Parts: sequence; structure tokens; C-alpha cells
Amino acid sequence: MTNTSHGDVIFRQLECRNLKVKNRIFRSNVSGKFDNYDGSGTQTRINWETKFARGGVGAIVSSYVPVHRSGRIMPNYATLESEDRIPFWRRLVAEVHKYDCRYILQLSHSGRQRDQAGVENQFSTAVSSTNSKDPFHGILCRAMSAQEIKEVISWFGQAARRAREAGADGVELHAANGYLITQFLSSGINDRTDDYGGSLENRARFALEIVKEIRRVVGRDFHLQFKISAVDHNDAPFFYEKKGNSLRDSIQICQWLEQAGVDAFHVSTGSMFPHPLNPVAPSFPYATAARTYETMLSSGVLTLRNYALFRYRILNGLFGWLWSRLVKKKARQNAELHKQLGMGSDVTDLEGLNVAEAREIRRNVNIPVICTGGFQNASLIRKVIDEGFCDAVSIARPLIANTDLVNTYFAKGRDLPDRPCTHCNKCLVNAIENPLGCYDVSRFDGDYQRMITEVMSVFHPTSFEEQDEAASLEEVRRHVA
Ligand SMILES: Cc1cc2nc3c(=O)[nH]c(=O)nc-3n(C[C@H](O)[C@H](O)[C@H](O)COP(=O)(O)O)c2cc1C
Ligand code: SF4
Repeated sequence: MTNTSHGDVIFRQLECRNLKVKNRIFRSNVSGKFDNYDGSGTQTRINWETKFARGGVGAIVSSYVPVHRSGRIMPNYATLESEDRIPFWRRLVAEVHKYDCRYILQLSHSGRQRDQAGVENQFSTAVSSTNSKDPFHGILCRAMSAQEIKEVISWFGQAARRAREAGADGVELHAANGYLITQFLSSGINDRTDDYGGSLENRARFALEIVKEIRRVVGRDFHLQFKISAVDHNDAPFFYEKKGNSLRDSIQICQWLEQAGVDAFHVSTGSMFPHPLNPVAPSFPYATAARTYETMLSSGVLTLRNYALFRYRILNGLFGWLWSRLVKKKARQNAELHKQLGMGSDVTDLEGLNVAEAREIRRNVNIPVICTGGFQNASLIRKVIDEGFCDAVSIARPLIANTDLVNTYFAKGRDLPDRPCTHCNKCLVNAIENPLGCYDVSRFDGDYQRMITEVMSVFHPTSFEEQDEAASLEEVRRHVA
């Protein structure tokens, strides 16, 4: 098959102020429990990230990387909280760079969205902008003091410095999807009455101070991007919650952030994770949730409610109705947009779900906008970049399903892989407990063993095997000598 990438906008270099990316496809952030319990990194993580680099994406935005252990979502995620973490990330970045792929570290703090505390956090209450528990799991939290806010801001600055020392190509602030920075930004969550709450300006103060601190520590010449939820939809699926930030609020926040030194925006949606629109799915994977969600039940105080919701079929229906109300509405709007863009029926209604919001943000800032949410079909990606909805797209699940999406399909002029991601969200719901990978057995012709072999492939080689190999080579040499 001929390579038709020449002249294709997908393969046009993207230039941010301090970063050049060879094409317009970013691997979006995907978290999996690949690392050691104490937050040190592993060879498995390196194997995982290298797969995407080899598959042709221009840049990888890492998974959630805690700036401090108190801000972890779960154990077994590599952190960037101390100097001894730098060598691991340096090694990972060097491997990814071998494929001319850029690596951006997502600096993160969970705040109250601390899914599994782990032994280190077990007896501490999560910190947040608010004293109100999160509405999904019921994780208890308390509003941070001004002194604690200062401390967390300094953690972000130091983590950015470490990322730079590790040779990363930039950092991303995780300010979307309900984590600590969202908890300050969102009018649906932030109920403070001090300088960090109330008006939009006050709610944005925490994010702006983090950006300024990072700039103070690393200077102007290091790429810094900001993942933001364009619209909070904080009343989905829990209709009794406040709506949260509108698109207009987010545009103003982005303008302030651009002035403060942000180089690009990564546009997402939703004020919690997961959220009906992120990662969007045609339905909720109850059967998987009933098995894996037990790991999280003890995290919050809504244990009984959630156990019943996922376990009992009759309650699945109720939860499903609440969960998919917004999905259906958004899918209808998106289908209309696809029609206007001249897309064919091989582009599903859930693809590129945030492009309309991304376009509004892009119209109001002067830096590149990367859009996430449902992208899989090259025609749609090409179209939205060509028509100025965004400058690049980031992809998560369709790349988990086909890590070679760019090189094997897009670069050869094909819109879709042979076995596309079905957006079923089984990868997401498994990731709480099992290794991250594609768990839709229909993509493996119903062959469960084949699916598991693929999921487990990321564990090889392990560093132990490498050491073993080196040791046996040494032994052979000794025998030969
Ligand atoms: C298993 C899984 C883990 C994720 N982890 C993160 C994360 O650590 N940080 C983040 O910002 N988004 C995370 N996301 C959201 C994705 O980066 C992405 O924005 C979202 O899934 C929509 O893109 P998609 O439709 O291409 O999957 C995760 C998504 C999945 C499916
Ligand atoms: S399990 Fe596989 S098919 Fe389902 S959403 Fe995840 S990657 Fe896509």
C-alpha cells in the first residue's frame, strides 16, 4: 500500500511556542496501574508508552502523574514528587524519543477525587476546594487552607522542573475532569468564600498561580499546556448538583491562562471522572463494573448505593437512564454537525464530541488547541483540523485498541483500522483493578485467551528478564573464554 500522508493535514507539523510535533495526533492521557506501589516507575510503563511511539503518534501526553503522593488517584502510578524519580522518567522519555515522538508529562493532583487512597493516604482526609464530598463515590474531603494552597502550588513548580530535568518535551496541567484544579475552577464544586472562591477571577486564581509558579521555576522556554473541561456539565448524571462552568467561563479562563504563559490548551469535558461525556460510551459497562468497582467501594461513603446500582439489573436501568440522558442529546447534536461537515455513516455519532467547544476556545485564544473525545476516523480528524475547529486531536481508547493507528492506517490513507475501538469503556472499568488494555472480546473474534495475551504483552520484557539475559550472556562469555 502506498503512503498517502504527503500533503495530508494530519501529517503537517504542529508548532507550539516551545514545541514542534511531527503530526497532529497526540496519544491522550491513559492511566493504568503499571508502576510500583510506592510510585516508582517500571519497565512495564516504558513498554506501554513505547508501543504508541512506535505506532506513529506525534506526541504522547502521559497518564496522570501525581506531583505528590497525597494527590494520587490510586497506588501503582509513577509520581514526580522527588528527585529520585527523575532517572526513571529520563529513561522513558529517551525510549519514546527514539521514534521521533514527543513526551509531555501530565502533572496532577487528585484533591477529593482520590479513588483508592492506598496505605499512605488511608487515614488522611483528601484535600479540596470544598468540604463537600464528591457526588459519585462519596469521598470525604476538607477545604484547603491558604498555607496548604501555597504548598501544593510549589509542588507543581518543582514537578515541572523535574520533568524538564528528565528531558520531557513539556508538561500538561491536569485541570479537567474533576481533579484538584477543576475543584477550584468549577462553580459547581468550589464554594469557598476567600480569595480562591466566589467570582470566576477568584476560582481561576489557583490555576493561574500554578502557571506563574511553573514559569518562575522553569522559565518561558519549556512547553506548558493546560487540559481543561470546556463545559463542566456538573449536573450529569447527578441532576441535583449545580451546573458548573459554562463554555463562556472557560473561554475567559483560557484567555487569562494564555496571558500567564500557557502554550496550548487540551480541550475535554465534564467535572468528574468518569463522566457521561468522558470517555463517552453508547452505554455503561455494568457487568464489568459489578466485578471491578468493588476495589473502589471503600473509598467513599456512597458504598451501598453504588454497590446496588452496579450489581442489580433493575437499578442498572435507573443508573443507565441518568447516565445516558446527556450522551443521547450530545450525540444528536454531533450527528448534525457531522452532516454539515459532509461525513459519511462510518463516522459514529460519538466521534469528536468536543469539537464545537474547542472551536469556540480556539477562536478566542492565539495558541494551539488540541481536542480530545471520541476521535477515530481519519476523515473527521482531517476535516476538523482543516475547518479550524482545533489544531490537533488527542486519542485515548482507539489507540489502546490499535496502537499502530497512525502508521498502519492513517499514513496509508485508510480512515479506520480493521478492528476499530467500539467505545465500550471496558478498558476504563477494568483499569481500576486489572492491567490496562482492550477488553472487548468481540474485537478478538470472541477469543478470550487471545485478548488476554494482548493485554499482558506489555509486561514483556521486564527488567528482571533483561538482567537475567545479561547474566546468562556473561556466563556464556565466561565459558567461551
Ligand atoms: C483507561 C483510561 C484512562 C484515562 N486516564 C486519564 C488520565 O490519567 N488523565 C486524563 O487527563 N485523562 C484520562 N483519560 C481520558 C482520556 O485521556 C481522553 O481524554 C478520553 O478518554 C476521551 O478520549 P477517547 O474518546 O479518545 O478515549 C483516560 C481514559 C481512559 C479510557
Ligand atoms: S475496551 Fe477496547 S473497544 Fe472498548 S473502549 Fe476500550 S479500547 Fe475501545
